[in-house]
Amino acid sequence: MAKAESESAGTDNESRLSEAEIAVHWKEEKVYYPNPRFVGQANLTDPTVKDRFAEKNFPECFREYADLLTWDKYWTTTLDTSKAPFWKWFVGGKLNVSYNCVDRQLEKNRNKAALIFVSEDEAEPPVAVTYQDLYIRVNEMAALLRDFCGLKTGDRVTIHMPMVAELPITMLACARLGVIHSVVYGGFSGEACGSRIADSGSRILITIDGYYRSGKVIDHKANADIAVRKAQEDGTKVEKVLVWKRFRDKSASATPMVEGRDFMVNDVLKQFAGKLVDPVSMPAEAPLFLMYTSGSTGKPKGCQHSTGGYLAYVTGTSKYIQDIHPTDVYWCMADIGWITGHSYIVYGPLALAATSVIYEGVPTYPDAGRVWRIAERLGVNIFHTSPTAIRMLRKLGPDEPKKYHYRFKSMTTVGEPIEPEAWKWYYEIVGQGQAVITDTWWQTENGGFLCSTKPAMDPMKPGSAGPPMLGIYPIIYDEKAKEIPAGAGKAGNICIRNPWPGIFQTIWGDPDRYVATYYSKYNTNKNSTDWHDWPYFAGDGATWAADGYIRILGRVDDVINVAGHRLGTKEIESACLTVPEVAEAAVVPIVDPERGRVPEVYIALKPGVKATPAEVSAKVTLAIETVIGKIARPRVVRVVPDMPKTRSGKIMRRVLAAISNQMDYGDITTLANPEVVEQIRVQVQGAGPVVKKTAPEDIKAFGADV
Ligand code: PRX
Repeated sequence: MAKAESESAGTDNESRLSEAEIAVHWKEEKVYYPNPRFVGQANLTDPTVKDRFAEKNFPECFREYADLLTWDKYWTTTLDTSKAPFWKWFVGGKLNVSYNCVDRQLEKNRNKAALIFVSEDEAEPPVAVTYQDLYIRVNEMAALLRDFCGLKTGDRVTIHMPMVAELPITMLACARLGVIHSVVYGGFSGEACGSRIADSGSRILITIDGYYRSGKVIDHKANADIAVRKAQEDGTKVEKVLVWKRFRDKSASATPMVEGRDFMVNDVLKQFAGKLVDPVSMPAEAPLFLMYTSGSTGKPKGCQHSTGGYLAYVTGTSKYIQDIHPTDVYWCMADIGWITGHSYIVYGPLALAATSVIYEGVPTYPDAGRVWRIAERLGVNIFHTSPTAIRMLRKLGPDEPKKYHYRFKSMTTVGEPIEPEAWKWYYEIVGQGQAVITDTWWQTENGGFLCSTKPAMDPMKPGSAGPPMLGIYPIIYDEKAKEIPAGAGKAGNICIRNPWPGIFQTIWGDPDRYVATYYSKYNTNKNSTDWHDWPYFAGDGATWAADGYIRILGRVDDVINVAGHRLGTKEIESACLTVPEVAEAAVVPIVDPERGRVPEVYIALKPGVKATPAEVSAKVTLAIETVIGKIARPRVVRVVPDMPKTRSGKIMRRVLAAISNQMDYGDITTLANPEVVEQIRVQVQGAGPVVKKTAPEDIKAFGADV
């Protein structure tokens, strides 16, 4: 493997925990069986499906997913591997995503709610957007994008919006034209948005004036001005900023509109009232969208997702794993600004004609009963959220669900490993022991689920994502590319041996990084066009139990999973280095009972700095919020006399992570400055004896030498 090129910071196999050690944290749990009432109505109960998706039937098995869509032209080649690892699915096929998610639902579901928007302000009643409304609004917006902005197939557009119905409307309008959208999470700062605008080469930015967050109206338009400036610095001129209006009768932003550049969407749309736009028939392998995600090194990566493969995969998994029927009211509490929202709020559910709920605000606003009141009021029967949200709702209102009359048939968790204790609360209290749980493991790059139980067919095991999805063939390797078989009781690097339709196509503008990061680690022949030679390296540690269930242990690289969202350490460190007093910065993850992991920052100052440590810490926190956003805010910024370093000058983040997590930092004799480690330990942990605690896998693996 060309290790130097790879972003993966795999650890020494010897230093890995065995399953027995892991069990110190989480024991193997008893299994739970799906409720017969659920099984009776489930979409997937046919036991022959396992054989249909067995490796011998790959890749043709995925026709079953693609056949859920309406194609303008059927494909000729199911999987083209001739440019491996740049996979092409359903080659020769043509379709339009907005047609599949909107137009084709009109015949049977015209006046059914496609989206229900729930304001954070409880005094504002929910707003239902029927499929007919959605059709009209998507068409009008598509007309605006085409005729007012001059956008055409293949152009990129950056969308920086919170959770409002206008966000999926905008996405679907782009999809109607074959315009590639890049949605940036609304909580990211203007600067973070600007660098993504530049990377994607978008000349149009679509935003909103403001939105509710924790009871306050946030002036979101202010971020657009920063984003445009940052994009310009990075070499991309934004020609137009389109600003949606959050409120009908008032402005949510005090930031002035820039003449000739900024336009209120709601005003411009009037010119396009009732205008219909033919959906552009797109090749299956044309890009549908970019979604930026963090890696260990460098700037965020624009993961490029396809049209046909992606839509087929999210539709198939939404149908069989989320168990979505057109009659269901489905609520995924993720944000559309992350991949979960793209796949499982917008594209999967709408392709199946479901009703998808969009909640604007904080789940615990104004109190810990809010989520369950929404579920009761809207008759939600499928619920989807993250372990962080589950832990938070449990902590703030353990008995709140009991006060409301809703009934979930199925519930999903995604984004982080879930502790069995939190799982059981979700199952027993939220799901009243009736709803099935699917713990779905996957990533931004993957388009859709990779591991999960099949809800009506497989028993559930708390803390374990479960068996691989249909048509997904994983393998767990050690660092030396030796397979760790199921039941071996050892952790290793989980890889997927085969491509699948939802897999991303490349990193926008950086195909070499795509190959280096995800495929070179376990590829043995870079000229091979046989998919068997290209295992996809996920960057997660995992164990595979003898019963076939996979337990994900967390990242094995320098990515921190904060509340289910990936943040790259290097990105946070670069933000710290924008503070003039800072000479060096190191970011490490610490275990947090609610948010999973949160970043902690170590700083060494330049000589002669006059500012106090408290002043520098405040500046560092502000810099992180400015460059990335509040989501990356560190728990603590520690100013230390020096960084522990190897003789070649590399900062030993592993040692800092151990100290921050009250762990033993192991052998430091080879460091250039071992004495500083003890100074830092005393500063962080106090003068008592060294604490020795077994660390979770990702913390132990953190910052390992590449
Ligand atoms: O470490 C895994 C964790 O989240 C990472 C992917 O993050 P992101 O690309 O932001 O996508 C999140 C939602 C798909 C993975 O590398 N992860 C995701 N789901 C699970 C998980 N860890 C354990 N169990 C899961 N169910």
